[in-house]
Amino acid sequence: MKPIKIVGTGRFLPPQVVTNDDLSKNVDTSDAWIRERTGIGSRRVVDAQTSTSMLAARAIEEACADAGIEPCALDGIIVGTCSQDTLFPSTACWVQDHLQIRGMPAFDVMAGCSSFLYGLEVASHWLGSGPKRHIAVCGAEVFSKILNWEDRRTSVLFGDGAGAAIVTQAEGSSGILASNWGSDGTLASILMVPAGGTRMPATHATVDEHAHSVIMEGSKVFKHAVTAMSQALLGALGEAGLGPDDVDVLIPHQANLRIMEATRERTKIPADRVFSVLEQYGNISAASIPVAICEARRAGVLRDGQVLAMTAFGTGLTWAAAVMRW
Ligand code: ACO
Repeated sequence: MKPIKIVGTGRFLPPQVVTNDDLSKNVDTSDAWIRERTGIGSRRVVDAQTSTSMLAARAIEEACADAGIEPCALDGIIVGTCSQDTLFPSTACWVQDHLQIRGMPAFDVMAGCSSFLYGLEVASHWLGSGPKRHIAVCGAEVFSKILNWEDRRTSVLFGDGAGAAIVTQAEGSSGILASNWGSDGTLASILMVPAGGTRMPATHATVDEHAHSVIMEGSKVFKHAVTAMSQALLGALGEAGLGPDDVDVLIPHQANLRIMEATRERTKIPADRVFSVLEQYGNISAASIPVAICEARRAGVLRDGQVLAMTAFGTGLTWAAAVMRW
């Protein structure tokens, strides 16, 4: 199987900014607490009319333009999200509707914040050694509509946004060098939206009890996140035959600055290699890595020939890492 490479990136963040000070008007929190414990300064949120697929469609359009192809020329669409438009159909099919394109397979990957890297893994198996094709892998989230805004333990952490990458078969020495993914469903309950599926169908009571919103055991998530992200990345680096100093740019899932820093320390990658959009966008879950990749490219931080390391964890718990030569 040939490696795959990213030939175009795009992202879309809704324009409305919510600062930490804005949040502190409604719940008992402060800019100082949020910055110190998480590194987050603000986040973007959608308006009432906007859904996840709309953000995804904008990001995919931008990524296609960057890759020099029309969206109708895509051979597949994978959307990573845990804030899907509807229980069904998939958010990826709603994206096709927005872009008025049809025919190519389109489906969602649901691995929480690991979803973009899961999507890349699926795309790399899908592309295999066949004829040259283009697949859009997108991470898109509207967390603002699945949060309990009265719960300060979760509402301060997340934001909305979408990032996309157009992937195709790699030629020469560029492309994904190694990857690593896994999950541990015995930890499923530490980060979830309890109601709205078959486990706990929607009732008046579930709405009254905020059971359609994110609940999280923060400190348990923190501990497992650091272990999972660092082990996944060390595994991928080892498989690629690379050491920490070979990494030019590290883009970890942007959930919390302390998690990112602890992961970096365990992998011994130098501190100046980390690229982060956490401060301005908060945790945008599946969108965080593709948005950061897009911004790193545009800022000239991530250049052709460089080694990019990515690692993520998410609800499930899931984890994934990939090492790529751009
Ligand atoms: N503002 C002020 N005080 C707060 C807030 C807030 N927003 N949230 C919690 N507190 C309080 C708590 O009530 C607690 O008070 P108490 O001691 O009186 O009970 C105190 O602060 C300390 O709470 P902890 O939960 O121990 O704080 P901690 O240092 O662990 O930080 C945090 C909490 C930021 C949530 C941390 O545990 C964390 O980052 N966990 C991982 C979360 C994460 O990354 N989630 C997303 C990952 S998965 C995905 O991306 C989909």
